Amino acid sequence: MSTPWVCIVMGSDSDAEVMSHAADALDELGVPFHMLVTSAHRSPERTKRIIEESDADGAAIFIAGAGAAAHLPGVVASFTSKPVIGVPLQSGSLLGLDALLAIAQMPAGVPVATVAIGPAGATNAGILAAQILAVGDKALADRLRSKRQAMAAGVEAKSKRVERSTRN
Ligand code: RP5
Repeated sequence: MSTPWVCIVMGSDSDAEVMSHAADALDELGVPFHMLVTSAHRSPERTKRIIEESDADGAAIFIAGAGAAAHLPGVVASFTSKPVIGVPLQSGSLLGLDALLAIAQMPAGVPVATVAIGPAGATNAGILAAQILAVGDKALADRLRSKRQAMAAGVEAKSKRVERSTRN
């Protein structure tokens, strides 16, 4: 692929439903992506190969979702110097707080940009990836601006439905 694209990885197929929100956000903004499962601890060699091959094949940004100990985003970041966005997922008894801390608390030197736990985080990972790409893509920047305008219009419409007053 010659146009910059986004590589989305997740640690398990049990993460797919939530991570599809990242794919949907990119799709809506017309950003090409490829999404697949690879695990930092169950398939470490596959993970290394996928990240290095994707990097060489023009992936401009990586989005990595994982739950529990959630080392996948950090491992992805170890194999590329492209931006990596980590999505903490709710799995297991700590409800995603474990993943949030694991992803956000990268030691200095190998950053992972961390978004919120769950579907909102996955959506924002897609939008953030698009915003990074939009720095060098005016058409994409225009689409992002239109999305913000639609969001603002939505707030106004919702307000109209609830607005009431006892003032004259
Ligand atoms: C993590 O462990 C995955 O990212 C997933 O969120 C969690 C549970 O994986 P499964 O046991 O459902 O495959 O590595």
